[in-house]
Amino acid sequence: MAVDVDKENLPLHVAITMDGNGRWAQERKLPRTSGHDEGLRTAKRIVKAASDLGIKYLTLYVFSTENWKRAEQEVGFLMNLIHTHLCGELAFYKENGIRVRHIGNFDALPPQIRADIQEAIDDTKDFTGMTVNLAINYGGRDEIIRGIKKIINEKVPEDKIDEKTFSTYLDMPECPDVDLLIRTGGEQRLSNYLLWHVAYAEQIYTDTLWPDYSNDEFYSHIEAFQHRNRRFGAEKPAVKKGK
Ligand code: IPE
Ligand code: IPE
Ligand code: MG
Repeated sequence: MAVDVDKENLPLHVAITMDGNGRWAQERKLPRTSGHDEGLRTAKRIVKAASDLGIKYLTLYVFSTENWKRAEQEVGFLMNLIHTHLCGELAFYKENGIRVRHIGNFDALPPQIRADIQEAIDDTKDFTGMTVNLAINYGGRDEIIRGIKKIINEKVPEDKIDEKTFSTYLDMPECPDVDLLIRTGGEQRLSNYLLWHVAYAEQIYTDTLWPDYSNDEFYSHIEAFQHRNRRFGAEKPAVKKGK
């Protein structure tokens, strides 16, 4: 239960690396793709739990710029899963007032996926509940390079470039920095996720494989975040957490 979560002190922006689908399937002697199917169910459940809790921004690592290295069959399956989800689940986002956004290299995605993403963004743009950023074909370095190119193309004068303006050239200019980064699947690494945005994020790593990640574990991670002392380089904890 979410009983121990202090709803007045929620992280504003939670990011999740949903890892471990393949191993979950392998443990059950199933094809890796079954793990992705199950992982999608978990993602939907956690999106709902975060929205019900009152989280404002949730960013999910769906497919990285490095994931194209996988077998063609797995990549094809994942693209198809993204397509089916975006086309079939718009009602879910609407029911919950959730705004869908995309981060990542949009132009390099297959045309069908670009169309699906665009439709989801357009159909949910006026919703005022939680914002879900779907990181699809996302790489932190790629995001930074694309941002630099935009700045050069717009001939932004050097004295106008600071951390604040630079972040407006990245993929989620309207979102605050990540407060809490959760990674399932046991690996303790960033895997090129949100390199700019996690500068002062609290990080939680769990061995739980993504398909097994329960709402209760999610709530326990939010609660653990609430007990962290965030100092942002100062000698004392910042007064207000989650900002
Ligand atoms: C995460 O699960 C989903 C994607 C990267 C698309 P994995 O597919 O990486 O699962 P493991 O890490 O191999 O178990
Ligand atoms: C990170 O997981 C990407 C996603 C969850 C979409 P990976 O499984 O691709 O990361 P590595 O290869 O273990 O670093
Ligand atoms: Mg993995």
